[in-house]
Amino acid sequence: MSEAKKLTAPAVRARKVSNGDAPLVMVTAYDAPGARIADAAGVDLILVGDSLAMVVLGYDDTLQVTTADMAHHVAAVARGARGSKTLVVGDLPWLSYHVSVEDTLRNAALLVRAGATAVKLEGGRKRVPMIEAIVDAEIPVMGHIGLTPQSVHAMGGFKVQGKEANGAQVLVDDAKALVDAGCFSIVLEGVPDAVAKLVTDAVPVPTIGIGAGPHCDGQVLVFHDLLGIEDRISPKFVRRYANLGADAIAAMQAYAADVRSGAFPNDAESYH
Ligand code: KIV
Repeated sequence: MSEAKKLTAPAVRARKVSNGDAPLVMVTAYDAPGARIADAAGVDLILVGDSLAMVVLGYDDTLQVTTADMAHHVAAVARGARGSKTLVVGDLPWLSYHVSVEDTLRNAALLVRAGATAVKLEGGRKRVPMIEAIVDAEIPVMGHIGLTPQSVHAMGGFKVQGKEANGAQVLVDDAKALVDAGCFSIVLEGVPDAVAKLVTDAVPVPTIGIGAGPHCDGQVLVFHDLLGIEDRISPKFVRRYANLGADAIAAMQAYAADVRSGAFPNDAESYH
């Protein structure tokens, strides 16, 4: 199999819709089959998100996963995306970049050694020293501002951010600080569309939105949301492109019925 030309962080950094570029397509994935599906669909970036905690591991928030958990899943995704052009981003989990610069670098390196080309972390200006240190270690960093799920308790829930004029200015200033620190792109989560436009227009790197309206330089959705595997909650910003959860239940029911009636396995499905 010939290696496809890998999308690089500098190439992503140069992508702006205002320059006439096509919007970036990012999706989360957590294992090798998920990565193969995303790659076959031609997405630009795979994010091994710490949403792993909620959509795969069954926790109520993202605070429960460790760097070791993330590295385990980054490695699986990287194996699934081997030889593809998709850029794999590993999400630094809560408390992996809060303690010290040294700790932050070691954790970022764990994700890179597991197969990530870049790492993502949440927060604005207060993260600048850690971002600068990671970038200085030659690891590309994706920022993430707005509704930052790792701040769920500090924010008082999963709430849309930047609704007040001051909040919008804070987000613009945070985004500029992340760019100055060296981020090659910024996820904008859970912000009003007008605020996302203000931020997108204010920075030279691409913004990738989730629940941030259409005026970003790209979009990201969670794998299980877009495929209808996770359907217990339905945020307004999710568009479901399939109902794989319901399809899987129907398939299992058909299998169970065939086993119980003796219709499975048949002669052709047996060794003789
Ligand atoms: O963890 C995640 O899936 C994310 C996306 C929602 C951007 O951070």
